[in-house]
Amino acid sequence: MPLFDPGPKARREDLYDRERELETLINAVEKCEPLILLLGPRRCGKTSLLQVALNECRVPNIVLDCRVFEERIHIRYADLMKVLEKKLNEFAKPFNRVLEFLRRVRGIRILGSGIEFETYSVRNVSLTEIFEALSRWAEDEGRCLVIAFDEAQELSKLRGATILPTIAYAYDYLRNLSFVFTGSMMGLLYRFLKLDDPRSPLYGRGFVEVRLAPFPREQAVDFLIKGFREHGVEPPIEVLEYAVDRLDGVPGWLTLFGYTALNRGRIDREIVDEVLEIASGMVLEELKHFLEPRYQAAKRYLAILRAVAQGFDTWSKIKKFLEVEEGSKVSDSDLYLLLKNLLDASILRKEDNEYRIADPVLAYAILRKTIRLDKELS
Ligand SMILES: Nc1ncnc2c1ncn2[C@@H]1O[C@H](COP(=O)(O)OP(=O)(O)OP(=O)(O)O)[C@@H](O)[C@H]1O
Ligand SMILES: [Mg+2]
Repeated sequence: MPLFDPGPKARREDLYDRERELETLINAVEKCEPLILLLGPRRCGKTSLLQVALNECRVPNIVLDCRVFEERIHIRYADLMKVLEKKLNEFAKPFNRVLEFLRRVRGIRILGSGIEFETYSVRNVSLTEIFEALSRWAEDEGRCLVIAFDEAQELSKLRGATILPTIAYAYDYLRNLSFVFTGSMMGLLYRFLKLDDPRSPLYGRGFVEVRLAPFPREQAVDFLIKGFREHGVEPPIEVLEYAVDRLDGVPGWLTLFGYTALNRGRIDREIVDEVLEIASGMVLEELKHFLEPRYQAAKRYLAILRAVAQGFDTWSKIKKFLEVEEGSKVSDSDLYLLLKNLLDASILRKEDNEYRIADPVLAYAILRKTIRLDKELS
């Protein structure tokens, strides 16, 4: 698979660098660590790293893509169970002996070579019992089974049920299961799993953490050089430098640039700008997903983002900006909560008490395009 393929990578030879992160993840999976967190901003290669590691280890695995819930404000237990039902059926194809274990779970029916949940309600089919059955299967096979939740922070939208006690139970008693949670939103992932909250069922449990960051500048340029070289192309270095200036070292954006340039058969600054436009559209859509459930404060969030994008980067500068914008006083507690939510969602990051827009593409988009978003949300 070429380096500039826009889908997630699944094989080691397709992955650029990430040697250290991959080793840590593979090690953890091989040891069947009960809890593994794979954290990083969007488009930094979390799904790719997870897939490569699972392929390298050749462990049986069930990966639940929670991104399907991204546009939802809330999700119900039944939504999660429907996703799980589908995944269990996929899993049972190569590992059909698992059906013998699943058939004993209350509320599960065997249907030919697959399973069916009688209903999707918490009362009728228990996630704990499903995990127990899977663990018994894994134990019987003498293997470790990895259960991964990709973009797990989406599960914090779960209403009317909580899966944390089940995860904690599995952590303590189901030794043949290894849980992986990936998430772009560090705060939210911590907030969802609540690993540092004494009231959380998972409190105090140890875990392995793998973090992915954007490539440093030099590596980002090298990534582009290698990617174009695969197609026998040697673009002018200043165009590549310009691409990294605008797109930063985010692998997903660099890949999109390479992919688009090759498709257009042109590698110049205009293509970089064009990719920036496409990428802006994508990040604004994602910002909309963040703002929609918070529509009452949407204008305030946008004003804060505009302030930060323009360089009003400290608490007091942001506060003043917001007060001028709204024409009235803003309370410290309000501002604290707004900033905390933006940090939790990894939309902002904070360094030495200065706030920054985490993704340079979002910063660009906010300065040029949020007026549209303002209108759409009002
Ligand atoms: N180390 C890498 N080598 C080659 N390509 C990569 C690497 N990391 C990421 N990519 C590419 O960048 C894009 C985004 O990667 P991926 O989907 O794995 O990231 P992610 O962090 O899961 O993103 P998202 O936040 O959208 O879920 C894909 O096109 C992928 O092929
Ligand atoms: Mg992903």
